[in-house]
Amino acid sequence: MSFRLTYATMFNPPEAMHERFEAAMARVSADLGRRHELFINGEDRPAANHAQRRSPIDSALSLGEFALANAGDVDSAMRAAHAAFPAWRALPVAERARLMRKVGDLMEERVYDIAAALTLEVGKNRMEALGEAQETVDFFHYYADDYEQNAGYDRPLPNDPLEGTVSRNRSVMRPHGVWVVIAPFNFPFALAGGPVAAALVTGNTVVVKAASDTPWSGRLLADCIRDAGLPPGVFNYVSGSGREVGEALAQHPLTAGITFTGSVGVGMQLLRQMAGGAYPRPCIAEMGGKNPCIVTENADLERAATGIVRSAFGMGGQKCSALSRLYVHDSVADQLIGLLRGKIEAIRIGDARSRENWLGPVINDSAYGNYAHYMQQLQSDGATVVAGGRQLRDGDLARGYYVEPVLAEADLAHPLWKQEMFLPIVMLHRYRDREHAMRLANDTDMGLTAGFYGGSDEVPWFQDRIEAGVTYANRPQGATTGAWPGYQPFGGWKGSGSTGKAIASFYYLQQYLREQSRTVVE
Ligand code: ALA
Repeated sequence: MSFRLTYATMFNPPEAMHERFEAAMARVSADLGRRHELFINGEDRPAANHAQRRSPIDSALSLGEFALANAGDVDSAMRAAHAAFPAWRALPVAERARLMRKVGDLMEERVYDIAAALTLEVGKNRMEALGEAQETVDFFHYYADDYEQNAGYDRPLPNDPLEGTVSRNRSVMRPHGVWVVIAPFNFPFALAGGPVAAALVTGNTVVVKAASDTPWSGRLLADCIRDAGLPPGVFNYVSGSGREVGEALAQHPLTAGITFTGSVGVGMQLLRQMAGGAYPRPCIAEMGGKNPCIVTENADLERAATGIVRSAFGMGGQKCSALSRLYVHDSVADQLIGLLRGKIEAIRIGDARSRENWLGPVINDSAYGNYAHYMQQLQSDGATVVAGGRQLRDGDLARGYYVEPVLAEADLAHPLWKQEMFLPIVMLHRYRDREHAMRLANDTDMGLTAGFYGGSDEVPWFQDRIEAGVTYANRPQGATTGAWPGYQPFGGWKGSGSTGKAIASFYYLQQYLREQSRTVVE
């Protein structure tokens, strides 16, 4: 059976998809344990130091040894990217778009192997892993098409006749130079690949840094780009610690712009750094979320429960888009809680390689420790834990970071209403007054995604008032998660995003360009 992975197959997977994933998992698992180097100026660059990484699924599973870049490696990568910039930016729009499609096509040939690696490295289930890998393929095509269809965003302007001469006017969009991409652990392939595609197609050259937990995914992206035959230096890849490598990239004098996806704290620090120096440089910071969902008395509760569970607990809540605050009309709260409890109890937790397990481990020891801490905070501060709350330490699960999804009813003064936990923990509040629920939903420094379940006549009320960049109404596929390139532009307001321009939208690529007005008098 021949088929292509799409947004739709993620919700209705053909059997052959499982077969291919399992074959890829066997292939990739047989090849674990290798050493993975940096990729600089078109070749592997052996690092002085390496770290062994183990899977969050099972600490007995070694993924391999991964390079730890130092400041000297960062400097080499930056210089290589700088040297490659003039020739790369001089290529015609169509040629760079062609090369991006070539990367996308090559990636698509490897999509199952990439997904298997994502499952092993991050612990996400196969549907989430395949979704991420295919989404990245789609980013490469989306940005290539967008850039070409908009003719590189160049615009002819009216000529102006003055003093017997004619000025020929144009607005031309030009790249900045070396663009740094700092990727997060939770979508290490897509949120490296998407910004890389955007930066490259617009004529910038790139240095990518993987999150310290996920160097393998970054290296797989580098392999796709290497094999597509991009000129040396156009794309460079470094892995290592955020503090050392991230800092060296942010401070490097050749850094012309940054796309960062990660925590608010680091994002705000980068924004300050990029605003300082001799002159301000662009910084696209996609930061956290504390995403709300409002359920009114007119909601289809079964649909709401399905969408809420998917968005709150998919990938263990480790998505910036994850649902973490739930405001439910008092008259339907007991019924919704009952439905949620049933769905939570039915969630299969365990080794993410197995088809039947929907929820794999959280990423690392620190996330696992945070879970215990938050559970203690919920219990000691008087919240009612409606469902979940245990760390699972039995049998094979004892060697991974497995936790139960949590639904907790808590007083509005509870500190966890404000804190981004990045774990499968949802706080619930019963409301009586819809306007009060909206004020609560907006009472946050974040503004990434928001969900709503209620009557269709209430939807404009929700979408007009909610302070969030991505809104979903009455969506069973996910209350707040699951944006896909070409369907839902994805970007945050307030503390969630620095520019108010969404990923995979008409406005996204323009952020990688600077305008030059060109007037020539004949
Ligand atoms: N694309 C991911 C989502 O929307 C981040 O959940």
